[in-house]
Amino acid sequence: MSTIRTIIAGTGSYLPARVMTNDDLSKIVETTDEWIVERTGIHSRHIAADGELTSDLALAAARAAIADAGIDAQEIDTIILATTTPDYTFPATAVTVQAELGLHHGAAFDIQAVCSGFVYALTIADTFIRTGQSKTALVIGAETFSRLLDWTDRTTCVLFGDGAGAVVVKGAAGEGTNADRGVLTAHLHSDGRYKDKLYVDGGPSSTQSTGHVRMEGREVFRHAVVNIAEAITESLAATGLNADDIDWFVPHQANKRILDGTAKRIGLPPEKVVLTVAEQGNTSAASVPLAFDTAVKDGRIKKGDLVLLEAMGGGFTWGSLLLRF
Ligand code: ACO
Repeated sequence: MSTIRTIIAGTGSYLPARVMTNDDLSKIVETTDEWIVERTGIHSRHIAADGELTSDLALAAARAAIADAGIDAQEIDTIILATTTPDYTFPATAVTVQAELGLHHGAAFDIQAVCSGFVYALTIADTFIRTGQSKTALVIGAETFSRLLDWTDRTTCVLFGDGAGAVVVKGAAGEGTNADRGVLTAHLHSDGRYKDKLYVDGGPSSTQSTGHVRMEGREVFRHAVVNIAEAITESLAATGLNADDIDWFVPHQANKRILDGTAKRIGLPPEKVVLTVAEQGNTSAASVPLAFDTAVKDGRIKKGDLVLLEAMGGGFTWGSLLLRF
């Protein structure tokens, strides 16, 4: 049966120039390179320069994705930007990107699902395209997460970094089978009972300030492995595919131990897992598109490959998405 599929037409990413190593962090808080590497797999992360905003990172990634897609930016009719660190409380950071790209048509908006933001945003774009609301969409995950960190709290400040990733997606005719290019299935979840396990202790309505990240690390870890594995199983069941069919697993880069645990649970060999956490840390909504672009540009992900995306973040929110590149 013929159908419309949402295909990835181009990918792009951007990382701020400044690199902060674990040794740099050990001068700020009581920690060691050894502790951070052993517990998280993180060696370094990028930190945005003073005055460098989420919209700047997003725009750089967006321009790279548009160039990669080989389209005129004017073709874009929808911009969905996933972020937890918008430039301002409002307007949406997406409208700044829209203006900088010289676009005055279509819709641009932000979505907030913390680290799951990009998987949420791509799922929304897929729905827009399949229902005819959009023909060509720009989907971005961008964060200056360093601005939410309490630099005196060693249990959180060692984990995160800044960056942005983007994809251009377009509608294309498919046969309605798993051989089609494009998004094959997506599954989103949230459970607000856990909203105090990982949160920011400020906001416009509560404190009229931005606040800092607070986290019960062990609890997050415990839920992450279980929730992510369940969402992946859901994507495989919906398509009738199994773990052996997956060419590349592009997970949210929270912590290498979470990713190792998840891959093992679903029976994926480590060589199929795209890992960027060592050099980037956890960049929240940016981590999936950053990892995706890395593996496309270095030639690992090729046209026709089956790629599994997943993410989990504060809320809790989580989800998985299966696509053929
Ligand atoms: N350096 C040195 N010691 C530290 C540090 C640090 N940076 N941070 C904590 N410690 C100490 C603690 O104080 C504690 O000391 P104590 O035993 O004297 O009390 C000890 O290390 C062990 O602390 P735990 O919190 O129990 O360490 P754990 O093994 O759970 O690792 C970690 C902590 C890495 C945060 C882990 O729980 C984790 O990865 N959780 C998942 C969190 C995550 O990835 N969040 C990202 C957002 S959510 C998402 O994206 C999925």
